[in-house]
Amino acid sequence: MTDKIDALLREVEEFEADSPEEVEAFRLKMLSKKGAIPALFDDFKTVESERRKEMGMRLNRLKQAATQKVHELKTKLEARASQADKPKMPDLTMPAARDPIGSRHPISLVRNRINRIFERIGFVISEGPEIEDDWHNFSALNFPQEHPARDMQDTFFVSRNPDLALRTHTSSVQVRVMEGQQPPIRTISPGRVFRNEAISARAHCIFHQVEGLYIDEGVSFADMKQTLLYFAREMFGEQTQIRLRPSFFPFTEPSAEMDVSCNICGGPGCTICKYSGWIEVMGCGMVDPNVLENCGIDSRKYTGYAFGMGIERIAMNIYQIKDLRLFFENDMRFLQQFESVL
Ligand code: DAH
Repeated sequence: MTDKIDALLREVEEFEADSPEEVEAFRLKMLSKKGAIPALFDDFKTVESERRKEMGMRLNRLKQAATQKVHELKTKLEARASQADKPKMPDLTMPAARDPIGSRHPISLVRNRINRIFERIGFVISEGPEIEDDWHNFSALNFPQEHPARDMQDTFFVSRNPDLALRTHTSSVQVRVMEGQQPPIRTISPGRVFRNEAISARAHCIFHQVEGLYIDEGVSFADMKQTLLYFAREMFGEQTQIRLRPSFFPFTEPSAEMDVSCNICGGPGCTICKYSGWIEVMGCGMVDPNVLENCGIDSRKYTGYAFGMGIERIAMNIYQIKDLRLFFENDMRFLQQFESVL
């Protein structure tokens, strides 16, 4: 009898059920009048008196265990059923799910920063068309007829006669602004430009520039230097130094190339500045009197400066991006790194 009790006890302990029907079947098998446990109580009557106490305790323990098991399983399954019926209430104590916010493209981030820096000192933003005629892209800017930049090799032509091309620089917007307005002029023109170049880590056929133009009475090269120094320090940090190297552009005279001290190593040289301590940032110069005249501005009364920089070049420097092609591939893994930056 002891063995029987132990076997049933084990069965009770191990029993699990997934439905109320299974629990009921178990209850009938164990506890109903004709079930296994009442049957043992019948046998109990024949147990000799010295073993009765112990056997009684064992039997009661078995009965209790079975009753409790049935009760537990019933409540568990009922709770589960009522959970499934109930419409799900939101758990207001849960941490809120984060809405994935988009990210701005690094080119937009840098362009916006450049815009804000110049807006603070009175420059307004102007834009021009991406398909330009020869006049605005070249002739008005003093490019001689045979200048190599006009070559098919560099320029994407849209049509011949009239000559229409994808603009090769944002300097074309200078011309449009000067044609439409008399000095004082302070404007910057961000935009896309196009050149027929082989695509590599350092060059692309589409890129972005920001053009700057300042025309008024008595504007000097020193004014330009000071404005560009202010820009460089706002953009690359307070300690930044600039240097101007003589250069040539058809639309400025004199012309210069501006470098900034390397914002990574601060001067002694590193791989970013190719151990020179300097990073080339833009072309600039005093607007050639021919250009002023071409655009209907009196070059005896007014002078001015202009500058032009590539946004990719600056973005590559600021974010330490080694391959220009990343800007155009729309790889989410690249773009998501700029997430939540305003
Ligand atoms: N347009 C020039 C380029 O695309 C950049 C430039 C140089 C613009 C000097 C200017 C300037 O306004 O003064 O390379």
